[in-house]
Amino acid sequence: MITEGKDRMSDALLRIEGLKTHFFLDEGTVRSVDGVDLTVPRGKTVCLVGESGCGKSVTARSVLGLVDAPGRIVEGSVWWHGGDRGPGGEAAAAGGVDLAALDQRGEQLRRIRGNEISMVFQEPMASLSPMYTVGDYLVETIRLHRPVSKKEAREQGVGLLRRVGIPRPEQRLDAYPFQLSGGMCQRVMIAIALACGPSLLIADEPTTALDVTTQARILDLLRELQDETEMSMLFITHDLGVVAELADEVVVMYLGTVVEQGSVDDIFHAPQHPYTRALLDSIPTMGAGTRQRLRSIQGQVPHPLNRPPGCPFHPRCDQAIAGLCDTVDPPYLRAGNSLSRCVLHDPELVSAGKELS
Ligand SMILES: Nc1ncnc2c1ncn2[C@@H]1O[C@H](COP(=O)(O)OP(=O)(O)O)[C@@H](O)[C@H]1O
Ligand code: SF4
Ligand SMILES: [Mg+2]
Repeated sequence: MITEGKDRMSDALLRIEGLKTHFFLDEGTVRSVDGVDLTVPRGKTVCLVGESGCGKSVTARSVLGLVDAPGRIVEGSVWWHGGDRGPGGEAAAAGGVDLAALDQRGEQLRRIRGNEISMVFQEPMASLSPMYTVGDYLVETIRLHRPVSKKEAREQGVGLLRRVGIPRPEQRLDAYPFQLSGGMCQRVMIAIALACGPSLLIADEPTTALDVTTQARILDLLRELQDETEMSMLFITHDLGVVAELADEVVVMYLGTVVEQGSVDDIFHAPQHPYTRALLDSIPTMGAGTRQRLRSIQGQVPHPLNRPPGCPFHPRCDQAIAGLCDTVDPPYLRAGNSLSRCVLHDPELVSAGKELS
């Protein structure tokens, strides 16, 4: 993702380039996703982090063509298997397909969705119809992908439910979603998403409603599956503990843009962007004692309808330079081993800004 070069690029399973997804409301245009670039390499986990409202879910839904009106992708590409580029730099030459250019309601995207790419949504209840049992979902998904009898598919379904930590899975297979707790539904969703053996799992806060023991079990399961099948993951979470456990790469979003991306080690040990540092400062340090208060980032994420000019983080940034950060859109620059979108990484911009102020 960060390291440029042919080897790294050819490893890309999913590559999002300049993605913009906007919602057109009567009050104005909400630029929920406003220029996102990120790559999920084969067999790796990329964690997408950022405060609520930063555009993480809309990014995930854009990949799969699941953005509802009045929203739509207005710019950018979502290359699937687009790692290798042709002589002119074009991804399509190597057989990649731009999911953003496909008919968002069409058959090709529907086939990729829930087949090669599966998704666990943030609200599990809303994604399961009350008309079908857990078994209906699981058996159908398994039989779509493997030539097995109904009986065998049921057995595999029970096995999957057991692996995600559902007690008495034989009985639960015949339960309707409304008969299950929120945490149970979330585990069922994870089982359904895994039933097709996806190349990429997109998981949007999949462990939020779970207790810590079940969460640990799910994370172990995902890691096991990744070892077994080389599955890639785009994992959305606000829990930096989960990021530390699961991520190979971390992408930090703020107000619809990526502000920093790097390896998990670099993001945790050498964060470059003031927003990443503030996010990390807001979690307790290991061994710092239980009495230490959590620091929260000053101010709130502005509503995207009131997006600040210049660097979108400037009203909350304790390093902001007046006259510069509130006017200049920060360039995306290499800083340490990461890429970071902040004027502080460009000494010329900083000295020009100081002269202005
Ligand atoms: N259907 C919608 N209509 C209008 N605005 C939306 C819609 N869905 C999301 N948004 C806006 O897009 C922004 C990003 O939302 P989202 O991707 O859900 O954030 P996150 O997942 O990071 O918490 C938010 O400001 C949200 O209000
Ligand atoms: S560009 Fe300015 S406001 Fe934005 S993060 Fe950097 S220092 Fe802070
Ligand atoms: Mg979300």
